[in-house]
Amino acid sequence: MNDPSTTKTASAATETDKAAAEPALLRLFEMAHEAAQRAYAPYSGFRVGAALRLTNGAIVTGVNVENASYGLTICAERSALVRAVSQFGPEMRVEAIAIANLNAAASPPCGACRQVLAEFTEPEAVVIFPAADGPCAVPFHELLPLAFAIKPK
Ligand code: THU
Repeated sequence: MNDPSTTKTASAATETDKAAAEPALLRLFEMAHEAAQRAYAPYSGFRVGAALRLTNGAIVTGVNVENASYGLTICAERSALVRAVSQFGPEMRVEAIAIANLNAAASPPCGACRQVLAEFTEPEAVVIFPAADGPCAVPFHELLPLAFAIKPK
């Protein structure tokens, strides 16, 4: 695992620096890494774990689950999100997200996961993920500034 004590930030924002140094966020990152050990990735060999901290304090993890048809694979982030809604219902909100992998590689959340997470995630939620030069923490709105949403008229 990348060493979380040397967490980098994608932007120079000091708020992000503080969030990155928060022990609770680093613990969430460790939980994502622990979860990744339960990934089912026989086709890519890329084992990913995600851990979501909800505004109610609960932590929900998920892993990527691949399929022989390839296209039916579900990413770790969406797997965690679906589990969180199933456990806590549609009112639940995500306040922090951690993503880790067992491959010592960069793994920011893919575009599909960003859009799906946006439905339930606070714009200011912190996202920590392995970047090319180590763990990186950014606010969610920096990862997906213009999320698609249907606003009732
Ligand atoms: N994967 C994730 O779990 N999360 C992402 O955000 C991107 C990719 C998984 C899907 C697939 O099982 C493997 O990583 C290789 O793409």
